[in-house]
Amino acid sequence: MAREIGWGHGGVKRGGPKNFASSDGACYAGSRPALQNNKMISMTASAERPETQTWTPPKLSVVVPTFNERDNIAPLVEKLEAALAGIDFEVIVVDDNSPDGTAELAKDLARQKGHVRCIHRVGRRGLSSACIEGMASSSAEYVAVIDADHQHDETILPEMLRRVEAGADIAVGSRYNGEGSSTEGFSKSRQAGSTLATKLSGILTGKTLSDPMSGFFLMPRALFNEVAPGLSREGFKILLDIIVSANRRRGGKLVIAEVPYSFRRRFAGESKMSALVVAQFLGLIVSQISRGILPTSFLLFSLVGASGVVVHLGVLTLAFEVLGFNFANSQLLATLVAMTTNYILNNELTYADKKLRGRRFWTGLLSFYIVCSFGTLANVSVASVLYETNAANFLIAGIAGAVMSVVFNYAVTRMFTWR
Ligand code: GDD
Ligand code: MN
Repeated sequence: MAREIGWGHGGVKRGGPKNFASSDGACYAGSRPALQNNKMISMTASAERPETQTWTPPKLSVVVPTFNERDNIAPLVEKLEAALAGIDFEVIVVDDNSPDGTAELAKDLARQKGHVRCIHRVGRRGLSSACIEGMASSSAEYVAVIDADHQHDETILPEMLRRVEAGADIAVGSRYNGEGSSTEGFSKSRQAGSTLATKLSGILTGKTLSDPMSGFFLMPRALFNEVAPGLSREGFKILLDIIVSANRRRGGKLVIAEVPYSFRRRFAGESKMSALVVAQFLGLIVSQISRGILPTSFLLFSLVGASGVVVHLGVLTLAFEVLGFNFANSQLLATLVAMTTNYILNNELTYADKKLRGRRFWTGLLSFYIVCSFGTLANVSVASVLYETNAANFLIAGIAGAVMSVVFNYAVTRMFTWR
């Protein structure tokens, strides 16, 4: 608290040099060696606006992704200030236009504290993409990501930084290693799921990481820049994605430092993690195996499509065989039911992070019906052309048509339904 005046970032904003001596008497000049390097503007006598501007970015950017974390932000920043005393750092809150006004609050804070800023994203949702955007906006030497809800223990950040400075490629706050415990704030089922995910990702990365699901890590910005273009923007599992990509680039020799901590209970607000995030995680694994050619959402979309076939055949059998509807009506009913279940599943699973609710749920459903009708048209046309020109036998033509409609529906619903 006392350090508010002591922080250097914001010199430009407030239009003058900052006083680096804090009210508790400590001087922070040590961590900011040259005052004129810190966002100070040197003006020529004649110029009205600055001609040269020198600014040394902080050493560490701490990215805090938020969605409805209003009551967590200010106390988190205070905890970070205490934990990182003596280290030149900034906090980058990346908020997806939370209804509770987290972004506004973060911006208010940024006006008081030069080392806080906020990226306010509108019309987008997603933890991974928020982390990526936050790190991409940094010009510091090191970047870290930490949850806003105080579940990650910020006091290990200096140790994480030391480990990376000492040569590790990435430091991971780990809930399981050594003294790190997962008992507090973690339900039994989440724990079991996490253990399974850990095993799976161990197979995938060839690394024995005790907590690859962590959302708490630190690395040189240069490494982030190397892997950023290939990262999936979907889902929760950014760290795993980074590790797989970085490990590939390092020829399997990525050095990971695990720093144990005990997972705390959420400070305020509620979790956005759901069982469905687990499905997204499985999608990420397949996506990784296919080296990103198949995006996670496409795989989930296809999986949902496959479930739709089962639903369709089930309803068709029921209507035609059991209830005695005529074939055309049975087929129509089956199509409608399957489209509806597909829509609901995609909304819950594939696009959990863009989930449509309320009125938008219904307009989304309507657009989904329309797109799928065109998809069916595309399906039948492609299959017929292939079959009639003797380019393929009936089975291959049928499969090609089905693939065509999945690709079509996927691409077009991304444009119109889940924008
Ligand atoms: N910007 C943005 N957009 N932030 C988000 C979004 C989003 O769509 N969804 C979640 N967040 C933020 C939350 O506000 C929080 O700061 C952080 O991401 C983690 O979300 P929680 O809702 O607290 O997730 P959790 O505690 O259940 O998940 C924990 O365990 C996961 C692995 O099991 C976290 O540590 C995750 O980071 C971790 O991946
Ligand atoms: Mn949490």
